[in-house]
Amino acid sequence: MERILVTSALPYANGHIHLGHLVEYIQTDIWVRYQKLRGRRCIYVCADDTHGTAIMIRAQQEAVREEELIARMKQAHQRDFAGFQIQFDNYGSTNDPENRALCIEIWSALRRAGLVSQKEISQLYDPVAKTFLADRFVKGTCPRCQAPNQYGDSCDRCGAHYSPTDLIDPISTISGARPEVRSAQHLFITIEKLHGFLDDWTQNSGALQPEIANYLKGHFLNEPLRDWDVSRPAPYFGFEIPDSPGNYWYVWFDAPIGYISSTKQWCDRHGQRLDDWWRSEQSEIHHFIGKDITYFHTLFWPAMLKVAGFNLPKKVHIHGFLTVNGEKMSKSKGTFILASTYLQYLDPAYLRYYYAAKLSSGVEDIDLNFEEFAGKVNADLVGNIVNLASRTARFVQGQQLSAVYPDDKGLFARAAADAQQIADAYQQCDFARAIRIILAAGDRANQFIEQAAPWNLRNDASGAERLRDVCTIGLNLFRQIAVYLAPVLPRLAEQTGELLGVPIRHWDESQQPLLGATVSEFKHMLRRVDRHKVEAMVAASAEPEEQQEGSPNNLPIDSDEALRAEPLAPQISFEEFAKVDLRVARVLEAEEVEGAKKLLKLTLGLGGDHRRTVFAGIRGHYQPQELIGRLVICAANLAPRKMKFGVSEGMIVAVGDDSGVYLLYPDQGAKPGQRVH
Ligand code: MSP
Ligand code: ZN
Repeated sequence: MERILVTSALPYANGHIHLGHLVEYIQTDIWVRYQKLRGRRCIYVCADDTHGTAIMIRAQQEAVREEELIARMKQAHQRDFAGFQIQFDNYGSTNDPENRALCIEIWSALRRAGLVSQKEISQLYDPVAKTFLADRFVKGTCPRCQAPNQYGDSCDRCGAHYSPTDLIDPISTISGARPEVRSAQHLFITIEKLHGFLDDWTQNSGALQPEIANYLKGHFLNEPLRDWDVSRPAPYFGFEIPDSPGNYWYVWFDAPIGYISSTKQWCDRHGQRLDDWWRSEQSEIHHFIGKDITYFHTLFWPAMLKVAGFNLPKKVHIHGFLTVNGEKMSKSKGTFILASTYLQYLDPAYLRYYYAAKLSSGVEDIDLNFEEFAGKVNADLVGNIVNLASRTARFVQGQQLSAVYPDDKGLFARAAADAQQIADAYQQCDFARAIRIILAAGDRANQFIEQAAPWNLRNDASGAERLRDVCTIGLNLFRQIAVYLAPVLPRLAEQTGELLGVPIRHWDESQQPLLGATVSEFKHMLRRVDRHKVEAMVAASAEPEEQQEGSPNNLPIDSDEALRAEPLAPQISFEEFAKVDLRVARVLEAEEVEGAKKLLKLTLGLGGDHRRTVFAGIRGHYQPQELIGRLVICAANLAPRKMKFGVSEGMIVAVGDDSGVYLLYPDQGAKPGQRVH
């Protein structure tokens, strides 16, 4: 194949890169570096995914223009990627003019093919923020089980799926306003007209992993494909549809087109023709994505490409999700770790290696276990691989390697013969297998050095030749491995090149020993993982526990407006109000709770010897000492609630939010235990 074009999914511009994302970008980068090391003509393109409601809202909240927000985020993304040695040939933005032009081109093709239709649909609209609300921006009471505070698409409590217009007492999470139902014209793509093509392509082209092909057959292709809603009415941050003024392409329409426009930018810089990469039999396209965005890439996207006459992907490589220490990444546990935080504490090589050692060609989730992470890096990389160099280089520094390769009992030849298997494993994205084969070669080489014991050989007239030979073998076995690992550990390959005076550029350098080269001074290549640093990184990533239920989980556009917009709760009878037993209480003890940045633990006296323990989300707003002895109002007949730090047996009454919390208390004369009427 003359040309290989590789992409990773385009990260959203409304958040920073975290260790979960990096599974994908490291995986792709390793695959691309492998291709380049083989001398193949391969480019890796990506871009920021910049459009949609989330960006628009964030820009409003921060009171900046969307363009400014996405420019800032793009810089941050690129810096994070560079920090992990992820090397793109082009990094664009879906808001770039090239992308608009390609959207128009593909849209016209869809129109010409008669695949675009128009329908009126009803959606929730936020009259304060003046925008239609995507499902995730609406909360309310579940229509099935009555659980409060559920998102607009599904209920966490009972699992029901519904439409946001079914929610009871819906609230916009943007402004707190009560949304209205409004209808608008939307444009749709009749993807069902491509059902036959998609059946064939997903099942027979070999582009998809078998489990993915089966999933699509069982979940989507077994019934008519629903029309795809590809437009959103103003206001929307995106490209306006030229033949439908006031309507914008939905973010998922223009996002994958970003793959093509990013390629276009690269082509323009390098004097190449886009069609040689996207409309040529001599080019193959490889997409790397996570399993959550499967159907966009395996149904909608191939349909768009097909209609507009672009190449279909040769392969969509789909990976699983990252868990940390066996669980979903969690902000409160400190396992939601940003790329930039990691880089403050740890060497990126560790993570590249660890992910490589865990990644296979399947779609299973992968777990980052910090114990295993430290153990593996220390044993495999430092103890096995780098050890080969550190135990030999210092004896020959400033000298030359032997001119003829000495007898190593077939070790170099044996590892050279592994090249094909390792190559196949890389090609198939089974990096774990590649690593296993490489480590076995490292073990054999270490045994050799152990037996030859260069540290016992004397560097005098009688021993110098033997010492040089042993080190020539050790360093060549090391270099061979550094070539094999170069896609995973580009920095180690560079350091090896510096040590031996010849840069590593090609896979085939694993096939011939390096002779006569002058060995430079040995410099440290990789340190052991310091477990304290891992702990410090987790601690630095930990965010305080969500405070009490019902706390605002989204910044309002501006707090005044949000307060005015907050609708009153539905009317209740006096009997219903009287169910809540509010009592005057005296704070007897108050203390900070270790590990909970927002909580104070209060012991309340409610008259007589009635006592209650209450965890209140007021830490940082009140000092424990200033509370002791004060009177507060306590909701005394709430069901006890089990929290991470203990059971909370009530709530104290306060107003406010993260920016300020204000306790309510009775006027002078009130006594603990008295009931509020
Ligand atoms: N913007 C879309 C992709 C558009 S592609 C035309 C998107 N962005 S994302 O930032 O949410 O995710 C980018 C990639 O990172 C996706 O492939 C996603 O699957 C992957 N991951 C995000 N979180 C992840 C984990 N926790 N674990 C593994 N991969 C994860 O989706
Ligand atoms: Zn429910």
